[in-house]
Amino acid sequence: MTTVLDPADAAFARDPYPYYAALREQGRPAAPVALSNGTSAWLVTGYRQARAVLADPRFSNAPAPKTGPRKAEGATAGARSVLEQHMLNTDGAEHRRLRRLASVAFTPRRVDALTERIAGLTDSVLAELTARAERGGVVDLVDDFAFPLPVLVISEILGVPEQDRLDLRTWTYRVGSPAGALAPGELDQAWQSLHRYFAQLIAEKRRRPGGDLFSLLAHDEDEAALDDGELLAMAFLLLFAGYETTMNLLASAALLLLGRPDELHAARRDGGSGWAAVIEETLRHASPLEGTTWRRASEDVDLGDGAVVPEGASVLVVLAAANRDPDVFTDPDAFRPDRYAPGGERALPHLAFGHGPHVCLGARLARLEAMVALPRLFEALPDLRLAADPGTLPYRPGLLVRGPRTLPVRRMP
Ligand code: HEM
Repeated sequence: MTTVLDPADAAFARDPYPYYAALREQGRPAAPVALSNGTSAWLVTGYRQARAVLADPRFSNAPAPKTGPRKAEGATAGARSVLEQHMLNTDGAEHRRLRRLASVAFTPRRVDALTERIAGLTDSVLAELTARAERGGVVDLVDDFAFPLPVLVISEILGVPEQDRLDLRTWTYRVGSPAGALAPGELDQAWQSLHRYFAQLIAEKRRRPGGDLFSLLAHDEDEAALDDGELLAMAFLLLFAGYETTMNLLASAALLLLGRPDELHAARRDGGSGWAAVIEETLRHASPLEGTTWRRASEDVDLGDGAVVPEGASVLVVLAAANRDPDVFTDPDAFRPDRYAPGGERALPHLAFGHGPHVCLGARLARLEAMVALPRLFEALPDLRLAADPGTLPYRPGLLVRGPRTLPVRRMP
């Protein structure tokens, strides 16, 4: 394929699937692709190849040293280098140590204990949404539902006070934006603000631990406990990994259901198992993380079928594409929750939460949020209708996260 891939392109962001399908159809489920910034990268779009790469320690998560004219300088470089030293950017023993320390906050018992709290937060978000919808106007299910809820939950885990939550959203959004999408200075300012903010938060947690899970990490008595830099990076990772992904899961599920009243009806009729199937199928069909973080081949790696990734190559596993691999999922572009329903076709597990040593630590929490929030949304507002043509909704640009940026709805008159 000779086309240069521009991740910032709006049409690609709205619907990247034909591009990925074309790669696969050309027999290139793992292949080098030219990117618009002048570099090239290996894109892995096949399910089998994606699992192989994610489980293979020869693909390293440690970021390549940043050199050359694009190297960040000064305060921003300092902030970035601290915040980016989180477990997702480490390999081997170092990764296992950081992951083990963080795991105490994500045991099934601790996560499940958040159920009531998440239900309470959902109801407060829905109370505002319903009041607005009742005043007759259009409400935005991204800004007024899918965004605030995960931010409230992650803020709850980190123990972030309410008045700071909007700032966190802005900074996180900016550090995740592709180069060129922001005004000059915005990106630097966001990195520095996040760094400053978390440094203060950690000092506060060390002094006065609260009931939040983050205080638990800050106060670990273990000898190998996290130092300040590691805690900063952990806070950043939890925010970054935990909020926009979950926001996209909620927004994409709502969008899919609004366009499919039969599926919505079935989910409401079937209760828990119906919603669980909708959530799994949304994760597959509209994978909130379009791609994993970048890997680098530490040596030549043969992925079979003539695909040999050369040492040093940058590799992006495109989960969204692997989750629509026709060799694994029948009718892959169709949204069919019945695949994951009891007695369904027993589809292979999707890869939306990744695979291998870095598989998502927050998967149980993300599923719980969706299981609590989606039924409550459609109980509170069963008569919602999309107030825009779904084909025109703007999508977040880039290869990392994927979801509609706005979702205007109104109640049926
Ligand atoms: C890692 C997806 C929600 C915490 C990952 C990875 C994926 C993923 C694909 C692996 C990335 C890679 O291999 O490069 C998702 C999706 C979510 C979600 C789709 C929501 C629908 C959350 C939440 C949290 C969380 C709510 C925590 C609050 C993490 C952490 C890692 C991770 C800490 C790094 C694990 C490691 O490096 O060992 N997530 N995630 N995620 N996720 Fe999630």
